[in-house]
Amino acid sequence: MFERGRKTKLAPLPATNFVPERDVDKQPILEAHNLGIDFGGLTALDGFNFAVSPTEIAGLIGPNGAGKTTVFSLLSKVYQPTRGAMLLNGRDTMGMSTVQVNRAGIARTFQNIRLFNNLTVEDNVKLGLHNHIKYGMLSGILRTPNYWKQEKSAAMRVKELLSIFNMEHMVGKRAGSLPYGAQRRLEIIRALATGPKVLLLDEPAAGMNPSETSELMENIVKVRDAFQIAIVLIEHDMNLVMGICEGICVLNFGKIIAKGTPGEIQNNPLVIEAYLGRQKKDG
Ligand SMILES: Nc1ncnc2c1ncn2[C@@H]1O[C@H](COP(=O)(O)OP(=O)(O)O)[C@@H](O)[C@H]1O
Ligand SMILES: [Mg+2]
Repeated sequence: MFERGRKTKLAPLPATNFVPERDVDKQPILEAHNLGIDFGGLTALDGFNFAVSPTEIAGLIGPNGAGKTTVFSLLSKVYQPTRGAMLLNGRDTMGMSTVQVNRAGIARTFQNIRLFNNLTVEDNVKLGLHNHIKYGMLSGILRTPNYWKQEKSAAMRVKELLSIFNMEHMVGKRAGSLPYGAQRRLEIIRALATGPKVLLLDEPAAGMNPSETSELMENIVKVRDAFQIAIVLIEHDMNLVMGICEGICVLNFGKIIAKGTPGEIQNNPLVIEAYLGRQKKDG
């Protein structure tokens, strides 16, 4: 199970982890064991224990600076942890790079949109698909029949993916010319193009108006149902979080202060205090 030769024995997961009923017999697709990272003297994350089941929509919430994006950067290997381990489908990911962990099944979007603005919508999605396109460089240069076959199936796959969000007609547009909401949707599609088992969405509704947000909510559930993958989302819009997340984990100052169902989280005094306390301090 631990292919990368890790010797430490992993502690059993705390019983507080929430598993949707349909996933009860399955092992978690993603597990973090005591994950932590220090930036110089600052402990940005500590003792992070978390599990996501294969088709769960999970939420990660907390005030600004709580460490949420840091968790995603650890899960996507942008940062290597100072402490702890992360398992994908039961397999230790220690030492993997961002590319390796993406091939293994983790895809993410960013808090600030990161598209190639000067490339077309199609090319942005193709960049996500590169994981699955099977031709060597030589075949690409020589434009062999296999190259054209792969290109044609890639173009079809791009259209299929765009159709999830009804964006097929935008295929030839420059990504930077799309309206804001469409750019955010394109980012999700590009992440999906890499064929993830776990999709990490960092504040997908940021900057969206209420009607775009409610459409996004439906689309996130649609993506989970169609692809049968796990989705973890960081989000400040509580209607979205409470509306579609099954398990929610709350961070404050780099530590988990609560875990549970939306109902449990909404009534948790520690959570209420973390939000209200921070609001007062920020003015
Ligand atoms: N690369 C970094 N170097 C130093 N400090 C960082 C770095 N990334 C994040 N931090 C710090 O870690 C803390 C958590 O940040 P972040 O994960 O972005 O919070 P959130 O996403 O919950 O708002 C903050 O205090 C932030 O300044
Ligand atoms: Mg953040």
